[in-house]
Amino acid sequence: MARILVLNGPNLNLLGTREPDVYGSATLADIVDRLQQLATARGATLTAQQSNAEHELVAAIHDAKASATDAIILNAGAFTHTSIALRDALAAVAVPFYEVHISNVYARESFRHQSFLSAIASGVIVGCGPVGYELALDAALRKLGR
Ligand code: DQA
Repeated sequence: MARILVLNGPNLNLLGTREPDVYGSATLADIVDRLQQLATARGATLTAQQSNAEHELVAAIHDAKASATDAIILNAGAFTHTSIALRDALAAVAVPFYEVHISNVYARESFRHQSFLSAIASGVIVGCGPVGYELALDAALRKLGR
């Protein structure tokens, strides 16, 4: 059974009320519920974590390796554009990960155009709204042959 971790970074706990014109009206709970349903239907196990703290995200990535997670779906929020620590953690554990951004970061401020994560990601999904998480789940499960 494939084990998938959905990991969300800072401010994504505010989805639903946070800049709805940019991020839409779905809450993180809505998104995770939908992903759980899709994963269950495909015989996969999905867990989800969100943290506003960089060190907790690093620890979650370390734990993913320890718990034999097959793939991570990661929206690192603003840490995408700043965090060498998250990149190093992902490189260290070598668990395949899919980088997701709800908004089209390339159509926004230039500081959002750089990702420290994309170069080592299995895939990057940008600007598709919350459905981007579902596309990442599909890509991960297909790659795992499920
Ligand atoms: C985001 C884009 C980031 O630039 C921003 O800091 C976020 C959300 C997105 O999902 O579009 O927090 O990752």
